[in-house]
Amino acid sequence: MTDKHDKDIDAHSGVETTGHEWDGLKELNHPAPRWWLWVFFITVIWSVGYFIVYPSWPTLSGSGERGGTPGTFGWTQYKKLEGEQQEIIARRGVYAQRLSDTALEDIAKDPELYAFALAGGKAMYKENCAACHGTGAEGAAGYPNLNDDDWIWGGTLAEIHHTLNVGIRSGHPEARNAMMPAFGDMLKKEEIEQLAAYVASLSDTSAASEEGAALYAQHCAVCHGAEGKGGREYGAPNLADALWLYGGSKAEIAQQIRAPRHGVMPAWEGRLSEETIKQLSIYVHSLGGGE
Ligand code: HEC
Ligand code: HEC
Repeated sequence: MTDKHDKDIDAHSGVETTGHEWDGLKELNHPAPRWWLWVFFITVIWSVGYFIVYPSWPTLSGSGERGGTPGTFGWTQYKKLEGEQQEIIARRGVYAQRLSDTALEDIAKDPELYAFALAGGKAMYKENCAACHGTGAEGAAGYPNLNDDDWIWGGTLAEIHHTLNVGIRSGHPEARNAMMPAFGDMLKKEEIEQLAAYVASLSDTSAASEEGAALYAQHCAVCHGAEGKGGREYGAPNLADALWLYGGSKAEIAQQIRAPRHGVMPAWEGRLSEETIKQLSIYVHSLGGGE
């Protein structure tokens, strides 16, 4: 009968209480399940082992890498990261060496190396070129689209590589330099208008005057070609297509005739490594317009 005296059973729920009571509220006795207790004890024991094996306790004079206890194997995340980085550098080094040993035209013959060059070129493009040519190499006014097959200076691997190395009007001793003269001072206003109309007519069906054609043959054909198809040796863009560096309206064309912009692209030789310029050439060449 002593049991019955000790235990206080809650009348509502039929559950034993702990005997604690506050303002008539009784605390029911719901002990944690046995399995839960075991899991708890195991995690406590596990943590002790963990503290011993891994660097853990912060101490003032700790012998571990950044203070604290070093753990039995001296393992640290810093060492792990360092090891992984070494591995990456070593792997990259092998490819970089292969890149510099392989002629530009032969890189595509080695699928693995080609994939490495493309991936590297893409990353370097984002870093160095996207600001001017756009993230998708789509270009903008004054900055050529690199995805199309309309090339000012040439779209073969070797030509792209040379453009990147020496730049355009960049001040590099071998830079691609041709300058379109400013005709604003040489020609009369109506001559420039006739020329603009003639140039516009090359790519659309608008009418052009004979005067316009004659002026073109006299002043422009040297660089842009008799039919306006462009001249790569002068970096003179094709005027007979619908792709424009500076815009294809008559007003925009007239503006270019009066005062050419002389777009500048920096030379990359010396700024980027030879392997990087190779990677970039391959990337640009792969964008769709490669020749
Ligand atoms: C400061 C702006 C600028 C940056 C940065 C720049 N470019 Fe250019 N790029 C130009 C301009 C402007 C032209 C056109 C110049 C001209 O002929 O009128 C050009 C032309 C080119 C051409 C020649 C296109 C053709 O039709 O022949 C290639 C190829 C090219 N850029 C690739 C690159 C690559 C790759 C990078 C990054 C390494 C890069 N550019 C970075 C401004 C830039
Ligand atoms: C010495 C060679 C040369 C001569 C001569 C020349 N051009 Fe150009 N032209 C260029 C070059 C180079 C460019 C690219 C210019 C730049 O970046 O400023 C260009 C660009 C242009 C453009 C811009 C094309 C675009 O895609 O936006 C037009 C339009 C143009 N020229 C028209 C003419 C006309 C019209 C004449 C004759 C009055 C003429 N050019 C004479 C070299 C020449």
